[in-house]
Amino acid sequence: MGPLSAPPCTEHIKWKGLLLTALLLNFWNLPTTAQVMIEAQPPKVSEGKDVLLLVHNLPQNLTGYIWYKGQIRDLYHYITSYVVDGQIIIYGPAYSGRETVYSNASLLIQNVTREDAGSYTLHIIKRGDGTRGVTGYFTFTLYPKLPMPYITINNLNPRENKDVLTFTCEPKSENYAYIWWLNCQSLPVSPRVKRPIENRILILPSVTRNETGPYQCEIRDRYGGIRSDSVTLNVLYGPDLPRIFPSVTSYYSGENLDLSCFANSNPPAQYSWTINGKFQLSGQKLFIPQITPKHNGLYACSARNSATGEESSTSLTIRVIAPPGLGTFAFNNPT
Ligand SMILES: *[C@@H]1O[C@H](CO)[C@@H](O)[C@H](O)[C@H]1NC(C)=O
Ligand SMILES: *[C@@H]1O[C@H](CO)[C@@H](O)[C@H](O)[C@H]1NC(C)=O
Ligand SMILES: *[C@@H]1O[C@H](CO)[C@@H](O)[C@H](O)[C@H]1NC(C)=O
Ligand SMILES: *[C@@H]1O[C@H](CO)[C@@H](O)[C@H](O)[C@H]1NC(C)=O
Repeated sequence: MGPLSAPPCTEHIKWKGLLLTALLLNFWNLPTTAQVMIEAQPPKVSEGKDVLLLVHNLPQNLTGYIWYKGQIRDLYHYITSYVVDGQIIIYGPAYSGRETVYSNASLLIQNVTREDAGSYTLHIIKRGDGTRGVTGYFTFTLYPKLPMPYITINNLNPRENKDVLTFTCEPKSENYAYIWWLNCQSLPVSPRVKRPIENRILILPSVTRNETGPYQCEIRDRYGGIRSDSVTLNVLYGPDLPRIFPSVTSYYSGENLDLSCFANSNPPAQYSWTINGKFQLSGQKLFIPQITPKHNGLYACSARNSATGEESSTSLTIRVIAPPGLGTFAFNNPT
């Protein structure tokens, strides 16, 4: 069992994507039916992804278009322009290297960053209008991407009911709310579990074998949330009281004695056998062929877990029945 691997939970809450909002356009009032419109594709964009500012209902007979960053049309805010005659693309000081203007005036922004958030101005120059043009504003707000949280634990191999566990969700920020998950369910508020420092730290005063995980922490801000990879604990426990199989205590002379011993334990226990208090052998099985009454006695199995340092044993009193002169065959097939 790898302490850090766990089957992934079905994520119910995912990063919702950065919002690309406020499609606004102050286009001029054309006496035509079609209004120029700008639409963001996709409407929600995450940091690092691409967004296409699609221009719809572009009028005919244009000289070109210019995209500006912000709402000021000056050289400093000039990103790029497209000149229809000759299909020439010109780049301005505000060009970041990630913008592409198409012949249909749409603007592709790749690898969107926080700095890209804000408004954009599309200036359309109509043929014959000289320097006069029309301007539309388009605004989007890009929210910062949440970092992938991760869990640190003071002890990945805690001993059952012994070790105090401290989980910490990283990174630390007062802008985040922290939520803890066990088995894909929000950890219930229990007096056993302490959550100091705004829930970023989770303290389990003791852990049982049933609480191995997977544990996840989630950070949330007002736009979305993201969950860490899951962490599974390797809780060391046992050995519990061993059991001896079969539990039969009476045998006939000549039968084989074939005992095995098992105790729940993590890691698996080491076993040893004693007969009447005398060490017999190490191992989970004890086999004695063709036993006779001289094998009567107290058979004890002892299980030891070196990781927890615990030991547990159990015993069975075995009696071999053998009237003189009669063998196994006679007993098994009484006349
Ligand atoms: C403009 O061109 C781009 C790139 O070819 C394309 O993806 C987009 O759909 C076009 N826009 C419109 C409104 O057709
Ligand atoms: C485009 O301009 C040309 C010449 O200026 C004109 O003949 C034509 O009608 C215009 N087309 C449209 C759709 O306005
Ligand atoms: C976008 O980011 C990827 C990966 O970081 C990079 O390979 C690519 O060149 C970037 N594209 C642009 C246009 O900057
Ligand atoms: C673990 O769960 C099992 C089954 O629900 C239960 O029988 C057992 O008592 C639990 N063990 C501990 C140590 O809580």
